[in-house]
Amino acid sequence: MNILVVGGGGREHAIIKSLKKSPRVTQIYAAPGNGGMAADAICTGIGAKDLDAITAFAQDNAIDFAVVAPDDPLVLGAVDKLEAVGIPCFGPNKDAAILEGSKVFSKDLMKKYHIPTAQYQVFDDMDRALEYLKTAPIPTVVKADGLALGKGVTVAMTRQEAEDAVRACMEDKVFGESGSHIVIEEFLTGPEVSVLSFTDGKVVVPMVSSMDHKRIGDGDTGPNTGGMGTVAPNPYYTAEIAQVCMDTIFLPTMRAMNAEGRTFKGCLYFGLMLTEKGPKVIEYNCRFGDPETQVVLPMLEGDLCEIFEAIYEHRLADVKIGWKSGYCTCVVMASGGYPVKYKKGIEMFGMDDKGQVDGAFIYHAGTKYEDGKFYTNGGRVLGVTCNAYTLQGALDKSYEAVSKIKFEGEHFRKDIGQKALKALPKDSLDLEYKQDMEDYIEENGVS
Ligand code: AMP
Ligand code: GLY
Repeated sequence: MNILVVGGGGREHAIIKSLKKSPRVTQIYAAPGNGGMAADAICTGIGAKDLDAITAFAQDNAIDFAVVAPDDPLVLGAVDKLEAVGIPCFGPNKDAAILEGSKVFSKDLMKKYHIPTAQYQVFDDMDRALEYLKTAPIPTVVKADGLALGKGVTVAMTRQEAEDAVRACMEDKVFGESGSHIVIEEFLTGPEVSVLSFTDGKVVVPMVSSMDHKRIGDGDTGPNTGGMGTVAPNPYYTAEIAQVCMDTIFLPTMRAMNAEGRTFKGCLYFGLMLTEKGPKVIEYNCRFGDPETQVVLPMLEGDLCEIFEAIYEHRLADVKIGWKSGYCTCVVMASGGYPVKYKKGIEMFGMDDKGQVDGAFIYHAGTKYEDGKFYTNGGRVLGVTCNAYTLQGALDKSYEAVSKIKFEGEHFRKDIGQKALKALPKDSLDLEYKQDMEDYIEENGVS
């Protein structure tokens, strides 16, 4: 099969790497792709939001199946467009992608179908929102309705911060039309868990759980980013909690979308908070998370291409899907200044000509390859990924690989996985760590 993967970040690199293991796959194309994917796919350079060019490319190049990975093309209707010309896709259509495309839609859906989430109010008038904030409980959370590159959420610790966020959305329009409707919601506390799931509208198959690190700085400080690192599985997400989530969140969401005539097929991402009153939904995404995918797909025991095809044909229940034991960790190396302002085109050192280093797998996000050299080409640059029997083992290996890669201004968090380690009993950690990580690589490979 010829496969087209829409997108050009670390998540897409992880999807491509996993698809390549399938005997069904002949050739993979990426739109646009990036400098570090060239070893695994033909990078077309076509922009992920250029739906006309993507559709034309798919028709002209005998694409048998398309995987639409990022939120923007999904919300714009890339799947509808490709399927209209007979190209089967992995990913929800426009009607279902609204689950991520509109926070107002997703909050109203959860309310209607009694799916646990934070209490909220919706506003389309700034004065009413500001009036409400005068007496609202603080901290509070202000969310722009539409997509905002993962930056549309402000967790306001003071009334002033909340007011500033409302004005930024509704007066200054920093997120454009995305901010003309806003949600103001209850501040929740508890460990956060990302659960990506496969669904075909009939069954939901959760993938191994993971933990993202969204803030730019150590100790969860500074502004939110797309994600600075991930670990899988997430030790806070016990089998008992998983069952509660299946019964109260995952299946009810799938059924709610069916009932609304918006059957969701693809990867449904549940951003959860484990509160004292039980797990609650913080956000839905209509796609694989980034950088969650970089730690989840390496643990998949199954054929990703077969899974994608089965979802398209609504027969996911027939496919065997398993998960490796052990842990996988990803440390993101970013450009200095990200997520605000950063330079591109900085030469990178320490990787081989395929963009790799020994002992890890490097998922490329914002990189460019020119004349035998790699250069930075985005905010998040690389996802340095390792697996091992233990979380500490995987982290040690990821950080060792990070230390081999250099570029001017590089920034990475030094505390990826520390919160997760706190949830694990120390004694069992030490014991397990003695099972040498090399055994693990022998059994499972590095990615
Ligand atoms: P989102 O872009 O929806 O993932 O939100 C970004 C981050 O804001 C989340 O990962 C949470 O850490 C935080 N957040 C979002 N909603 C809430 C909430 N209701 N209470 C506390 N924190 C929240
Ligand atoms: N890492 C969070 C997201 O993909 O939205």
